[in-house]
Amino acid sequence: MYEKKKIIVLTGAGISAESGISTFRDAGGLWEGHDIMEVASPQGWRKNTKLVLDFYNIRRRQLKNVEPNPAHWAISYLENNFDVVVITQNVDNLHERAKSSNIIHLHGELLKVRSTKNESLVYEWETDLQLGDYCEEGAQLRPHIVWFGEDVPMMSVAISHVRQADIILIIGTSLLVYPAARLVDYAKPDAFIYLIDPKADEIKSQRAVIPIAQKAGEAVPRLVNELIERYG
Ligand code: APR
Repeated sequence: MYEKKKIIVLTGAGISAESGISTFRDAGGLWEGHDIMEVASPQGWRKNTKLVLDFYNIRRRQLKNVEPNPAHWAISYLENNFDVVVITQNVDNLHERAKSSNIIHLHGELLKVRSTKNESLVYEWETDLQLGDYCEEGAQLRPHIVWFGEDVPMMSVAISHVRQADIILIIGTSLLVYPAARLVDYAKPDAFIYLIDPKADEIKSQRAVIPIAQKAGEAVPRLVNELIERYG
């Protein structure tokens, strides 16, 4: 029986750059003017909870003013010909809005919050999150985001998909943050791995990759068409 090839798409902040969402490391280590540890670590949360809540409230509101770009749409188009799993480090919902159906959010989601007492209590959340918003067990809610130093619970599921991939597209990530950057180590020896990022020639990967040093919005739709012609 004819079996579809399996494609894993690993995305980072760069795929959403052309939708108007800032990347992390392009602005001198600052994320929208903040030291990353101030707004993306348990220590930052304890030190200034209000600041962290406000920071993610702004990011959550911003989602209403941005749209998926041609790279997000091209990835969902791949599903017509391939078995596709998107593994994203992004907390935005642009892959969902471009209609990809299998999406793993390694670093959480802006449109979810969870209890600070019982992390299995996760809720959909579209508005601002305030001090005094509690879970059903009476504890403060926090953004459902994986911060520095925290476990990445979706990592083992992501690894099992990468192990089965025939083709891997890595798009718009500096591959500087672990364990996500390690995912590619689990690829089959004969998997084709493409790296699409304007800085593709500088980014260090554990595995040999085919670099495409261009912006995702142009390069991904073109590559998707090529993959469909060649393997679809
Ligand atoms: N198209 C493709 N790539 C782009 C584009 C574009 N238009 N614009 C910028 N890039 C690339 C940059 O060259 C850079 O390599 O996107 C990459 C963004 O890298 P980072 O800012 O480091 O983002 P990312 O790799 O997703 O960060 C990983 O770090 O702070 C944490 O949890 C956060 O998920 C995030 C993780």
